[in-house]
Amino acid sequence: MKAKLVSESATLTTDLVLTGETNPLNNMFGGELLARMDRTAGIAARRHSRRICVTASVNHVAFNRPIPLGSVVTVEAKVSRAFKSSMEIYLDVWIEDRENGSKQKANEAIYTFVAVDDTGSPVGVPEVIPETELEKLRYEAALRRKQLSLVLAGKMKPSDATELKALFNE
Ligand SMILES: CC(C)(COP(=O)(O)OP(=O)(O)OC[C@H]1O[C@@H](n2cnc3c(N)ncnc32)[C@H](O)[C@@H]1OP(=O)(O)O)[C@@H](O)C(=O)NCCC(=O)NCCS
Repeated sequence: MKAKLVSESATLTTDLVLTGETNPLNNMFGGELLARMDRTAGIAARRHSRRICVTASVNHVAFNRPIPLGSVVTVEAKVSRAFKSSMEIYLDVWIEDRENGSKQKANEAIYTFVAVDDTGSPVGVPEVIPETELEKLRYEAALRRKQLSLVLAGKMKPSDATELKALFNE
């Protein structure tokens, strides 16, 4: 399978925050943002693998900044690293200033998707080639995050998490 650039999976979705998608403070519901991120990440995973992709895990979400009603929200997703059948998707969320159009970072998240066949069994995906400094940083840290996610899910023994052990021994 031919390796692919991170940029080949880049996916942007832009939409408004409408009434019914907000909490009593008139800011976007966390669950609404999670759903938008899941959809955008799923498209990025599909673009990378050209397979059916399912959400295996939400590894990290930071709701750093509230997103007010009426905001124009852009979710950007890219495959930051691919393993055998799983892919780490890194998401950046931006809000657009109504008057000058500038974009401010609002949130970020990391999802894991797995490519599967028609029966739902995991299948192999192409490797990822990081190009920019940020892509390289995210690529390098992805194995550590994968091991942490597997340990937390009870799918890996902490003693087998070599990358995590190395982190604590630094
Ligand atoms: C995701 C799924 C396909 C994994 O199947 P599985 O039988 O556990 O398969 P495996 O153990 O071989 O894992 C497949 C890959 O997923 C990775 N994975 C599984 N659980 C993970 C987790 N919690 N965090 C990170 N990676 C995980 C494994 O490390 C493996 O990666 P690799 O092939 O790149 O090394 C299966 O659990 C599933 O279908 N889950 C439901 C998905 C779904 O419906 N999502 C929507 C929720 S509403």
